[in-house]
Amino acid sequence: MIDRADDDAGAPMPCDPEALLACMRRRTQIAPRHLLAPGPDESQRRQLFEAAATAPDHGQILPWRFVVVPLEARGRLADAFEQALLERDPAAGEDERARARDKASRAPFLALAVVRERGDGQQHITLHERMASLGCALQNMLLMAHAQGFGAGLVSGLALRSGALASCFGLAAGERAVCFVAAGTPARRKPARQRPLPEQVASMLQGGD
Ligand SMILES: Cc1cc2nc3c(=O)[nH]c(=O)nc-3n(C[C@H](O)[C@H](O)[C@H](O)COP(=O)(O)O)c2cc1C
Repeated sequence: MIDRADDDAGAPMPCDPEALLACMRRRTQIAPRHLLAPGPDESQRRQLFEAAATAPDHGQILPWRFVVVPLEARGRLADAFEQALLERDPAAGEDERARARDKASRAPFLALAVVRERGDGQQHITLHERMASLGCALQNMLLMAHAQGFGAGLVSGLALRSGALASCFGLAAGERAVCFVAAGTPARRKPARQRPLPEQVASMLQGGD
């Protein structure tokens, strides 16, 4: 547990809202194949996970975790991706298998996001709430990677539902792999996408008559 006893958690943020919004606006999905070395170093990785750990967490049950896949473990991940493909399609050809393996080598920083769906005696905290907490953690990481000067993105896919991946990452009963989060140096700049307007994402509950 990081000791933040000195921080006044309830105090207003010494942060310019427009600057924060500008950072959020400029974040955009960068696919792992476009994320090159260098990636975040050890202290920047810690910052990423510290950002994740500031996510809201109903009941403080910490219903999610991350498993980093260092470069030296990418061969194991490649094996799992290939096995996952063979689970779906035992007749998959060599090209397809090579493409599945290749995905494991992308992005200098890669971590699997895992949600705990059940099995902790805390079922009053629904899966929706657990996923909302993980979503906040992911967004915090993406924004932090961006603030560090890296590109970042999320990637999922059928392999995440495979037995091969579950056993590679040692997922417990009740845990589910949700997506990978990747970060690194973007190979090219990408314009920020058009975002929905405030009135498209929020409406007003009408008062009484
Ligand atoms: C849980 C999750 C899984 C995702 N998986 C993928 C994926 O497999 N491939 C992909 O291209 N984008 C994936 N994305 C990223 C979205 O495609 C991306 O956020 C969306 O296109 C909007 O772009 P933006 O992030 O730049 O706003 C995923 C996003 C989330 C939240």
